[in-house]
Amino acid sequence: MVEIIQISDLHYGSEFVAEYLENIIDYIKEANPDVVICTGDVVHKGRVVQYENILPYFNRIKAITRLMVIPGNHCAKNSGLIFFERLIGPRRSKMVIEEKDTIIVGLCSARDDMSEGMIGDEQLDWMGRCFNKNLENRIIALHHHLIPVPLSGQKFTTVRDAGEIIEFTQLFEIDLVLMGHRHVPHAHVIGPTTYLYCGTSSSRKVRADDVPSFNHIFLDKGDLEVYMVHSNNLEKHLLLERKDNRTKFVRPRRTRIEHLLSSAVWDE
Ligand SMILES: [Fe+2]
Repeated sequence: MVEIIQISDLHYGSEFVAEYLENIIDYIKEANPDVVICTGDVVHKGRVVQYENILPYFNRIKAITRLMVIPGNHCAKNSGLIFFERLIGPRRSKMVIEEKDTIIVGLCSARDDMSEGMIGDEQLDWMGRCFNKNLENRIIALHHHLIPVPLSGQKFTTVRDAGEIIEFTQLFEIDLVLMGHRHVPHAHVIGPTTYLYCGTSSSRKVRADDVPSFNHIFLDKGDLEVYMVHSNNLEKHLLLERKDNRTKFVRPRRTRIEHLLSSAVWDE
């Protein structure tokens, strides 16, 4: 079993709440997961000073456990990927945790000053070579949505070549795809793969009824348990459970259709 904490969309530089990130680091210390994965937008404007200020938090997490950080579209603003690679790490990365039979591949879906994402053939090719290793738990992390998420606003800012990536996840039987981007905790399931989205973990940039949150994940030979943890008070709620290929997804908010059906407009 591999234990993962996914944080995302820290947005240092805009509506960032240091207290939330302190809470998260306390939680990580207590849980001591095998790895922490941050799925992008670590800073808001790609500025070097923002990277310099978020870095000490990452160093504190690294002192506790393994850390993978991948860039988001906000990291790539103002040519910020230069500073991302200089201060945080490579824009794409592979992590093998032999003793947990786990491989994690982090992709860069961000492009300079573009809101939408793109993976491209070159990264796809590299990813295919990474997953040639026969490890039990197979995970991909990227920033942008592969499939639009309800109530997440601009749904055109997904990955342009999402079809190719989704096809890849089915072909290579990827267990878990971790994403951030629109700050809405959510999940989709197709075949062997669970597509899991994280909220904003350390900013006030939430949508509708959502709260700042992060995901605590347990993956064991295809079985999956995901808890959504509130960053402000560390309250924990089951978000998703997958056992013997059956998934129970506990929606953290009302659905779009529930909102519509309860609207006064339709009362007549
Ligand atoms: Fe974001």
